[in-house]
Amino acid sequence: MKILLTGGAGYIGSHTAVELIEAGHELVVIDNLSNSSVKSLRRVEAITQRDIVFHRVNLADLSGVREVFSSESIDAVIHFAGLKSVNTSLRDPIRYYQNNVGSTLILLQVMAEFGVHKLVFSSSATVYGIPQELPVSETAGVGFGITSPYGRSKSMIEQILTDASLAEPKLQIAILRYFNPIGAHVSGRIGEDPRNTPSNLLPYVSQVAIGLRKKVAVYGQQYPTTDGTGVRDYIHVVDLAHGHLRALDHLRSGVSTYNLGTGRGYSVLEVIEAFSRVSGRDIPLEIVAARSGDVAMSFADVEKAKRELAWVAERTLDDACRDVWRWQLQNPRGYDD
Ligand code: WQD
Repeated sequence: MKILLTGGAGYIGSHTAVELIEAGHELVVIDNLSNSSVKSLRRVEAITQRDIVFHRVNLADLSGVREVFSSESIDAVIHFAGLKSVNTSLRDPIRYYQNNVGSTLILLQVMAEFGVHKLVFSSSATVYGIPQELPVSETAGVGFGITSPYGRSKSMIEQILTDASLAEPKLQIAILRYFNPIGAHVSGRIGEDPRNTPSNLLPYVSQVAIGLRKKVAVYGQQYPTTDGTGVRDYIHVVDLAHGHLRALDHLRSGVSTYNLGTGRGYSVLEVIEAFSRVSGRDIPLEIVAARSGDVAMSFADVEKAKRELAWVAERTLDDACRDVWRWQLQNPRGYDD
């Protein structure tokens, strides 16, 4: 298939691009590069020895998006593009809604104009807010206690997709709820490249390990978990990428929603310990106050993806730490080197 990746130059988009190409698909990427670098795509081309058609277009630009659809004959869309900082979304909610929700509306409008009906959407476990059950399954309540406009924008888009599919039976949509993506491609050529101070755990830990930062601030040790620190379901980005392939292969009429996680949780201290062991570096840490909006535990019920998509995460936390460390050593300043 010829697949359009919105936000395809980003962390998850670039890793998915590799796996799609290796599965024989042809790719068209649109990205405004607001939080990514075109170098990631050049490296995907180097890894796969195949070309990627790239359009530097903002998804909010209706005529720009139309031009891409009229110049390429698109079979399916994987929609990664979106702003993703929880913190920034609290300070600038309008921009988040405008960008994430607004650009999805434009994408849906243009897909309809060009008769493209297949869509895989990057959603997030954040739509579960404070999980009502653990492991949290796709049937759990959504929207209760979502703590940021970022998270609400994902939840709103899920609702929009559901309404759109009710009105247009030809639509085939998969909503993928990512848990905590970590890791990097095994080549060390592509990985996560945060522009500013990382707010996610793994990139921060990795920058401490290499000496770019002094110590990890562990946000709270008062949670009702084994060691008191927050527990998350960390999923290797390459496993996540495979989940997209499977979702694409299994698209059917209507909206199907899947958790993409491993099904098991690790605490912050367990993650730091694993990274320290794998990298052989000391990782100083300090316990500080809990971060507002954090939940104690979140991990996925992965049965539905296993049953319907024949997909399970195969890589371990140690694998992910090794891959992040390789990426960090080979690219101490990310794509800026
Ligand atoms: C993981 C754990 C922190 C940093 C967020 C978004 C979610 C998403 C992924 C986005 C928590 C602790 C973290 C640090 C720490 N999607 N931590 N010190 O909060 O589960 O999810 O990122 O695009 O939507 O909400 O991930 O990596 O920030 O935190 O102690 O410096 O690590 O408290 O327990 P989170 P995270």
